[in-house]
Amino acid sequence: MAGRSVKKFVVLNVVQYYSGLSKISTKPEGLEQNRVHLPQCQSTNDYIQTLLSDQSQSLSEGFLVSTDYQSAGRGQRGNSWESESGKNLMFSIFLKPNFLIAQYAFWLSAIVAVSVAKALELYVPEVKVKWPNDLLINGLKVGGLLIENTVSGQKLDQSVVGIGININQISVLPTATSLALEGRQEFDREEILAAILSEISTGYFYLQQMGWEKVRSVYYSKLYKMAVLREYFLPDGQPFKAILKSISDRGELILLCKDGEKRFQFKEVRF
Ligand code: BTN
Repeated sequence: MAGRSVKKFVVLNVVQYYSGLSKISTKPEGLEQNRVHLPQCQSTNDYIQTLLSDQSQSLSEGFLVSTDYQSAGRGQRGNSWESESGKNLMFSIFLKPNFLIAQYAFWLSAIVAVSVAKALELYVPEVKVKWPNDLLINGLKVGGLLIENTVSGQKLDQSVVGIGININQISVLPTATSLALEGRQEFDREEILAAILSEISTGYFYLQQMGWEKVRSVYYSKLYKMAVLREYFLPDGQPFKAILKSISDRGELILLCKDGEKRFQFKEVRF
């Protein structure tokens, strides 16, 4: 029966993709039970942050806020995140990754980015993750992550994982794309959200059970321009050629430059 074989295929794929997961008997808990959808808001990350700052509220892990329109959507590097109303996916998930030492917080963003990429690949051929966590199709940006963490002692405490994906928007910046532009059809946003949440549940469970070191190879398998010689830019615009060699434990980009190996933090390099 078709339904049966599809299910088997998905289970096998998850086990093959995340090595070691087959040894774990408990299943990841779904993240999709606890959701608010707002027709519009300022920013779904801000909405969760406001709830968190209200001492009388207690949010359970997996709480999700989605919206059709953000009036003040936020992106990385202090940029805004603009998205046409009703066309795309914009949502934030509340997590409590208190199993993760704060200096390895990068690997939470890495597993979320890989999970989103894997979910989108159910609809379009190849999705890559550009360090640290941009989602690209054919070298063009289809989505991004804005993760805001709090720390308690040595460990992460709370995370607001904001995700924006261009789904049905046709008019985009020259450096961007959407699922509709790549797949040449309209997509069902709710179906894609469900696929993303399912992958994030599995990926988050994998991070929790297997530890951040194991996420590294999964991340490398999706990393854009891994081991490729290309041009990078310093913050003052100065170009230099280098090969993407690896990612450090703390999530720095390690480039092989003509004068040796160099490490870069997020704001220290562009490409
Ligand atoms: C980036 O700059 O690539 C990150 C973009 C993140 C956008 C999402 S949309 C949902 C959530 N709410 C926000 O204000 N930002 C994130």
